[in-house]
Amino acid sequence: MRGFGGFVNGCIFALALLIGLAFGAVQSGLVPANADSKPNRIERWLAHASLEAAIARGSKDLQNPLQASDDNLIAGVHLYGANCAVCHGAADAKQSNPAKGFYIRSPALAKDGVEDDPESETFWKVKHGIRYTAMPSFGATLSDADIWKLAMFLKRMDKLDPQVDAEWKKIPSAATAASP
Ligand code: HEC
Repeated sequence: MRGFGGFVNGCIFALALLIGLAFGAVQSGLVPANADSKPNRIERWLAHASLEAAIARGSKDLQNPLQASDDNLIAGVHLYGANCAVCHGAADAKQSNPAKGFYIRSPALAKDGVEDDPESETFWKVKHGIRYTAMPSFGATLSDADIWKLAMFLKRMDKLDPQVDAEWKKIPSAATAASP
C-alpha cells in the first residue's frame, strides 16, 4: 500500500512539474507567437495528425448530393472568386500579399490543387476550416449546397468544360499591385 501511495505522489509531482514547465515556457515567450517563422515539428504534428483523424471521422459518410453540371460548376467558380481567391489565388496561381505572409502557406490551388482528394474531404475542410492555420470555416456563411459546388469545382479544376473554364479564367488575379 505504501509503495502505491509513493507511486501516486510521484505521478502527482511529475504532473505538477510538467504543468509548471509548460506554463513557464508560455510565460517566457518560448511558445512561438509570431507569424513570420516556420511552424516547428511539434506544431506541424499537432496540426496534421489530428486534422487527418478528424477528417477521416467527419467526412466518411458525406456524399455530394448535387450533379456536376456546368451551371453548378460555374456557381462554384464564382463562389471561389468571392471567398477563396484572396488566399488561394485565381487561375494564374499568383498570391496576394496577405497570403504570402501566412506562417502556414495557403496553396495556390490552380497550381497545387486538390483534384486527387475526395470531394467529401474538401467539403469538410471548407465547412469546418483548419485549426492552427488561416483557413477559415465557411459553415456559418455558406450553405452546404454552395460548399458542395466549391468542392466539385476544385475536384475538376484541371479538366473543366470550355464554358466553365472561360468563367474560371475571368476571375481577377489575386496578386497585390506593387504600390497603389
Ligand atoms: C484567409 C485565408 C484563406 C481563405 C479565405 C481560404 N483559405 Fe483555404 N486554406 C488557407 C490556408 C492557410 C490553408 C493551408 C492549411 C494547411 O496547410 O493545413 C488552406 C487550405 C485549404 C485546403 C486544403 C488544401 C490541401 O492541399 O489539402 C482547401 C481545399 C481549401 N483551403 C479550400 C478553400 C476554399 C474552397 C476557400 C473559399 C471558400 C478557402 N479555402 C478560403 C487559407 C484560406
